Amino acid sequence: MLEIILRNVTVNFSNKVVLDSISTYFKSKEAVLVVGPNGSGKSTLLKVLAGIIEYSGEIIVPENYLEVSDLTGYVFQNPETQIIGSTVWEDVIFGLENIGLSKDEMEERANYVLELLELSHLKDFDPYYLSGGQKQRLAIASMLALEPEFLLLDEVTAMLDKNGKKEVLLAVEKLKTLGKGILVATHELNVFAPVCDRCIFIEDGRIIFEGDVHDGIKLYKESAKNQYLSEKLQFEGRNLDGSVEIQ
Ligand SMILES: Nc1ncnc2c1ncn2[C@@H]1O[C@H](COP(=O)(O)OP(=O)(O)OP(=O)(O)O)[C@@H](O)[C@H]1O
Ligand SMILES: [Mg+2]
Repeated sequence: MLEIILRNVTVNFSNKVVLDSISTYFKSKEAVLVVGPNGSGKSTLLKVLAGIIEYSGEIIVPENYLEVSDLTGYVFQNPETQIIGSTVWEDVIFGLENIGLSKDEMEERANYVLELLELSHLKDFDPYYLSGGQKQRLAIASMLALEPEFLLLDEVTAMLDKNGKKEVLLAVEKLKTLGKGILVATHELNVFAPVCDRCIFIEDGRIIFEGDVHDGIKLYKESAKNQYLSEKLQFEGRNLDGSVEIQ
């Protein structure tokens, strides 16, 4: 079992604290649902784990790994930004060309991930013509071919219809059975809840809840409702208890 441990991880963007002393862990075979309002720091947390933004604090990785990015693969909301090959096959191979594998190894990996994500029959297709769900599965396949131990899925179903969401969800279930650790940052709580084992609720860059998925979702929904009500009342010029300020 592999584990990534975060200790007091903090990220600042132009003097603003975006992640505020985050301490938690991620381990193999566990899917973690990362929830929180817009701008709370979900993507930033995933990007720190992908090794693409600077942080202060400590990220502890297992022996044999030099840095956290050696363990992780980040998949974006919009698969189009991640797909570069002119065929499905090329897209998977492209990512493998830079890591010094033999031709046979590359082909073996590409065949394996395409099979796993049920894209083998579309090997020679131009990715442009794939459905949204197929595109997102291709983005996941290409990332998976690099054999990350942890997949960081950032709003990967946001642009998909019901079928596309279902396809991606099945893919996530499969990744779990492969023993991968998975982080899902999403606003689509109910889509991912059934496959997640733990929930992290972030607000203003801090973890305000960590634990059971259903408890986390309940708390998040209550908090979102309160936020909405307080903004609505404020907009209407009323106090939080509904009374009107007499000028
Ligand atoms: N490159 C950047 N430069 C400056 N500020 C940034 C940058 N990226 C993100 N931020 C800020 O960091 C904060 C957290 O952003 P982040 O994208 O992590 O939020 P999020 O929880 O993923 O939101 P959403 O639900 O909208 O995806 C926001 O205030 C955002 O404006
Ligand atoms: Mg985000």
